[in-house]
Amino acid sequence: MADPRSALIQARLERYVAERGDPAAAVLDRFFARYPEARANFARHSPGNPEKLETEMVGNTLYYVMTWFDSPVEARIYFDTSVPQHRVALDVPPDWYRAFIEVTLDEIEAAVPAEGAAEAAAWAEVREALVGLVERNRFV
Ligand code: HEM
Repeated sequence: MADPRSALIQARLERYVAERGDPAAAVLDRFFARYPEARANFARHSPGNPEKLETEMVGNTLYYVMTWFDSPVEARIYFDTSVPQHRVALDVPPDWYRAFIEVTLDEIEAAVPAEGAAEAAAWAEVREALVGLVERNRFV
């Protein structure tokens, strides 16, 4: 059964998309402002079309934001593999991985005010959970 908090995540995302469209460009602007050196990593892994890979990472991040409350076990299993794999095989440090999640949430939260305390709390909870999954894998 769907967790009621999923609807609170969904609702704010839908308001964002209705007002501003796809968040990918704004998320990436925030990310590269913090870590300009990460551009070279995307370019190295996707020389023909780095923008496609960059946009895919925004999609991946939003997927785990949207599914956290209904499938936390899936996210835990995924992050336990992905964070070390990004670090070791893809040269993506946990600081970048964590920041990518933070700027994705920052962009939505800054653009679209929470409607009520429950919605604000659900968003804060997703942030804490996903950042926590990065942190527990920082040294793995
Ligand atoms: C922080 C900056 C990030 C960089 C530079 C980055 C880079 C990459 C690269 C180079 C690949 C391999 C693509 C390929 O071989 O075709 C990849 C795969 C992937 N990344 Fe990222 N990534 C980042 C953040 C994230 C985040 C935050 C998530 C999810 C929350 C994520 C989820 C994935 C997934 C699902 C794949 C495909 C399967 C896998 O290898 O796990 N990435 N990423």
